[in-house]
Amino acid sequence: MNSAVDLWQRYQDWLYYHSELGIYLDISRVRFTPDFVTQIQPKFVKAFADMKALESGAIANPDEQRMVGHYWLRSPEIAPTEELRKDITETLDRIEEFTQKVHAGTIHPPTASKFTDILSIGIGGSALGPQFVAQALAKADVPLKISFIDNSDPDGIDLVLDLLGDRLSTTLVLVISKSGGTPEAANGMKEAEFAFQKAGLDFAKQAIAITGVGSALEKYAIGNGWLDTFPMYDWIGGRTSELSAVGLVPAALQGINIREMLRGANLMDAATRVENLRQNPAALLAMSWYFASNGKGEKDMVILPYKDRLLLFSRYLQQLVMESLGKEKDLDGNLVYQGIAVYGNKGSTDQHAYVQQLREGVPNFFATFIEVLQDSAKPHPEVEEGVVTGDYLLGFLQGTRSALYENGRDSITVTIPIVSELTIGALIALYERAVSFYASLVNINAYHQPGVEAGKKAGAKVLALQKKMMSALKSSTISLSLGEIADKIGAPDEIESLYHIARHLHANCKLLLEGDLAQPSTLRIMLLE
Ligand code: PA5
Repeated sequence: MNSAVDLWQRYQDWLYYHSELGIYLDISRVRFTPDFVTQIQPKFVKAFADMKALESGAIANPDEQRMVGHYWLRSPEIAPTEELRKDITETLDRIEEFTQKVHAGTIHPPTASKFTDILSIGIGGSALGPQFVAQALAKADVPLKISFIDNSDPDGIDLVLDLLGDRLSTTLVLVISKSGGTPEAANGMKEAEFAFQKAGLDFAKQAIAITGVGSALEKYAIGNGWLDTFPMYDWIGGRTSELSAVGLVPAALQGINIREMLRGANLMDAATRVENLRQNPAALLAMSWYFASNGKGEKDMVILPYKDRLLLFSRYLQQLVMESLGKEKDLDGNLVYQGIAVYGNKGSTDQHAYVQQLREGVPNFFATFIEVLQDSAKPHPEVEEGVVTGDYLLGFLQGTRSALYENGRDSITVTIPIVSELTIGALIALYERAVSFYASLVNINAYHQPGVEAGKKAGAKVLALQKKMMSALKSSTISLSLGEIADKIGAPDEIESLYHIARHLHANCKLLLEGDLAQPSTLRIMLLE
């Protein structure tokens, strides 16, 4: 199989091509055998059946008793009820109408004739898709320039707000949170509200919410007379929400053609509905992942898009794959510890970073190259005779792909003709479906995220402890040791957490720590305010 002729034959045998999208998938450099393909076929019979049931409105997310409907967003006609179909099409029409009014200045900030900027506040599935799409598709002359608050990091928030500066008065704020109660999004919103107030601006006249119907955020936005609200439905998960209002509102506002994104996804959805492993690109991807990782996540997925605009695709896929597949138990309740670790950045930049290890170090991964055929919309000068920079980029990709294979490292290559609304929509749909198939192959629920929910609760526990510690210190006339505080608040097992909280509050001038910082048990603690 290693002769160039054999490999060329294998390449042709397994090459998938979607003629309308111009997208190729090459899995020839994944070393599965014909026997493996025969053995995995029955699992795909189940995966195709699972997908049919999911698209027909089955409760595909049993833990949360929810339907899983992101495929309906780009094919409303297949949604299981008339009400859902209406919701999808009406929301899309409303997004376009709102965008047109913002672009025309019919909807404008109180002190100017047009909005100039968007500030998008949200985290995880409510940020990664919009960030990826903004970087992939926004042009230099966008109608509104976008920035993001996607963390509870005051310094990060300062930087975003400082960069907006006086343009805050012409900034449209999007608060995006399905649950409407995620602390990072809520904090970002409060910080933005505060910044508006400080600048003498009316936040409500410049804000919209994209959130679950009936959520606390929706009530808050309506109650405070915000410009508008757009719905995020119960049957859409955060990490599969890019083609819902979550992704479409910011995209449309940036002048991105959202109907083309939806068309790309729709075309890919149709291709990945084909119940034939060899003719279904998402099934081929899922099969390759299964082979490469032994169906147990034994190898990491390294994403290498050779295109600056696709840098965030790696991060977007990291969430889509890891939050969907990283599960402790399978659907029958067995402990399985499933998942595939995903990381990546972009080529050829990475060839001067971690590709050294990929080529020669521990072989614990399989790579996915993302190739874009068109170099640029503009002509470029020759950097040497007959060669432009884009030729180098292709050369680097081909060279790394061959070197990896020769050294026993498998890879997949996805080739798109151009970075466009159509191909980005299609890429999103391709990976969403591959994740769905893989979840069926390994029998897990890809649509819940108990670990994320647990993380949200763990943070709240630490903050409750901080509040108790502060009130213990307030009610004391003398400085206290960590042990005394722990006893006072009845939390002797939390002494280390108390130390971490005290150290943080000390660095932020709220507490004074006296004693030897290298020996926490010597510290005496008092309030500074
Ligand atoms: O994909 C997911 O479900 C999560 O990453 C969520 O998107 C994330 O936790 C943010 O949740 P919410 O949109 O409810 O604020």
